[in-house]
Amino acid sequence: MTDTIRPLTAHPAGALSGSVRVPGDKSISHRALMFAALAIGQTRIDGLLEGEDVLRTAAAMRALGAVIASEAGVWRVQGVGIGGLAEPDDILDMGNSGTAARLLAGILASHPIFSVMTGDASLRRRPMRRVTEPLSECGAVFHTRAGGRLPMAIAGARDAMPIEHRLRVASAQVKSALLLAGLNARGTTRIEEPVATRDHTENMLAHFGASIEVEPAGAGRMITLRGQPDLVAADITVPGDPSSAAFLQVAAILIPGSRVTVQGVGLNPLRTGLMQTLRDMGAELPVRGERIEGGEPVGDVMAGYSALSAVDVPPERAPSMIDEYPILAVACAHARGTSRLRGLAELRVKESDRLAGTAALLAANGVGVSIEGDDLLVHGTGEPPEGGGLVSTLMDHRLAMSALVLGSSARRPVQVDDAAFIDTSFPGFVALMNSLGCRLA
Ligand code: S3P
Repeated sequence: MTDTIRPLTAHPAGALSGSVRVPGDKSISHRALMFAALAIGQTRIDGLLEGEDVLRTAAAMRALGAVIASEAGVWRVQGVGIGGLAEPDDILDMGNSGTAARLLAGILASHPIFSVMTGDASLRRRPMRRVTEPLSECGAVFHTRAGGRLPMAIAGARDAMPIEHRLRVASAQVKSALLLAGLNARGTTRIEEPVATRDHTENMLAHFGASIEVEPAGAGRMITLRGQPDLVAADITVPGDPSSAAFLQVAAILIPGSRVTVQGVGLNPLRTGLMQTLRDMGAELPVRGERIEGGEPVGDVMAGYSALSAVDVPPERAPSMIDEYPILAVACAHARGTSRLRGLAELRVKESDRLAGTAALLAANGVGVSIEGDDLLVHGTGEPPEGGGLVSTLMDHRLAMSALVLGSSARRPVQVDDAAFIDTSFPGFVALMNSLGCRLA
């Protein structure tokens, strides 16, 4: 994928319309493969995201001994049971995926095997110390490059100790890594998060029969997991990814006359910060057919053209929309007034420095934008931005898709230098957008 550079241009589009599905949730897809590989018996997974990131997780779990097969979109995983992973005979390459790398580090930490992990140039720049430091407490030994970067070598603990830890950054990846290590530790793992982050790990562990308790603790949560449970295979239906649906929804809100429904979107309340923010800005996002699928709330979300006003997004909302800031910033560029998106330090360590990348994306297309500390300020005029810019996507799928939505809704076309990374999370993005009326070519 990374070998072929794919420049792409979004031309201004007329009204979008259609009722579509988006690919499966990326967070849930990674977890489904990992947990199924640690369960006893065969798990069937429907709706798995077949994007590059998740395929890396599938390859890694195979290399560790799970039997994983797919046919016509249905995935079947024969798990090895907790403690049953085999030593991989080659380096585990997690590609572009921070979630795959960090969650797998948790699993490997409490298995008595040796492994080496790497990733692409973007992942090799991202911080791993946030997981390796607390994971070392279980007895695992990590050797990383300077600055705690990949590649790293992992000697998993022979008799892992349970970890008690209070998270220093609001990160579902770190929380999940520690819980996964706790699965093969003797005793009780306790993780406190000062702010609640996406809880797919907790939900899915309960679905597979683990003994896990989640209690409120101040503004956050305390999670208690009893080690060495028998995880039992349990079928999973993966909801549509709200972080992917976001691009279609914002495009429909920004392009006059549009009306787009995305069916079967995940509506876990720890993921819906963008929907709340768009509503605060004046968009209507009616939801129909709310239901529970595979333990997660889903529904059909309609989005249509709305005039937007500027918004001030509090830092506490960041965990529930952490991946949605680039596309929110595109919406803010169309809104009347100055929007302030607060407390975005974590965006600096995503697939790219997404804070700088988002500001550059807007600035290249005639939008007034500035960074003050960890806040992003976007000066909208209430009119479509000028466009006409060339955007560097920095190996970051979400910057690429945000730029293409900007080009679809601006006065002049927007070009991205490389759209190839979109396949990490949203295979079929270009065809789907074009089926709604976009002009991506
Ligand atoms: C994810 C957690 C978030 C998010 C990422 C997926 C997960 O990362 O940005 O895309 O699946 O747990 P952090 O934990 O670093 O905030």
